Amino acid sequence: MSTFPVTRLRRLRRTSGIRNLVRETRLDLDDFVMPLFVGPEGLANEDLPGLSRHSVETLVAEADELERLGVRAVILFGIPEEKDDEGSGAWDDDGIVQRALRALDGTSLVRLTDVCLCEYTSHGHCGVIRDGEVSNDETLELIARAAVSHVEAGADAVCPSDMMDGRVAAIRDELPDTPIVAYSAKYASAFYGPFREAAESAPAFGDRRGYQMDPANVREALRECEQDVAEGADVLMVKPALPYLDVIRATRERFDLPLAAYNVSGEYAMVKAAATKGFLDEQQAAIESLTAIKRAGADLVFSYWTKELARWL
Ligand code: PBG
Repeated sequence: MSTFPVTRLRRLRRTSGIRNLVRETRLDLDDFVMPLFVGPEGLANEDLPGLSRHSVETLVAEADELERLGVRAVILFGIPEEKDDEGSGAWDDDGIVQRALRALDGTSLVRLTDVCLCEYTSHGHCGVIRDGEVSNDETLELIARAAVSHVEAGADAVCPSDMMDGRVAAIRDELPDTPIVAYSAKYASAFYGPFREAAESAPAFGDRRGYQMDPANVREALRECEQDVAEGADVLMVKPALPYLDVIRATRERFDLPLAAYNVSGEYAMVKAAATKGFLDEQQAAIESLTAIKRAGADLVFSYWTKELARWL
């Protein structure tokens, strides 16, 4: 191996043309998914535009704009008019996500849906409560029902984010031909804060640590992925992304399935807030963050920056 002065690594950094030629990781809009919130009424979020809430009407206009900008895929989150103990709005044929999916019929965007109960339950947990706890097995049937209703309304793929054991199998049983993007390694994270405001899904009591993963664990993430593969998942996901780049890397190395990473609301909000204060440049920080997520091994990235990224690229 040659060393300095024969080797001078700076030679490949001298011009942007040379840097472009040797760049190992690139951002391509084809790999990005834009999250969209749909509820009974729209609610613009000036500070965090990616976390604005659309009505079905403004959602259609937003989807048109995203298509024009070159965005390829969206994931829908619904905020129902009314919540109940079971979260029955999640599988209502005339529910908010189902109506939104129908309104987007004919779009070229790939329509993914988040499958969970937390936006639909009065208590804000991701499953039904029995004796003060989220009951795993009783929740499975409800999750599968929600997934089926999304597909009947036009979803191209479903993304279960509830973290119940056995949810991928329960959905797979009902939907043999639908791609399942499993939120496999989803951690009980503080970085979901802004999302829970937008989706009105903060738990009314306790927290999600009884079903979402302990941030301290990585081997357990691989076990979660193994289960999801065995149950019929098509794509695995690690979430959040930036504080878990090691988990993305470990998952990439162990599994051959496409790997998604979710650059969550808190990761987006931190950079936005810092940029507002003048502490850093948003565009540079965002592109650096998204590049890091891809470099760690993610094939596709769910990010609130997707729309802005379409303008930047
Ligand atoms: C629903 C769900 C959550 C997110 C995606 N799906 C919230 C949660 O688990 O509390 C978080 C996304 C984000 O913060 O951007 N279970």
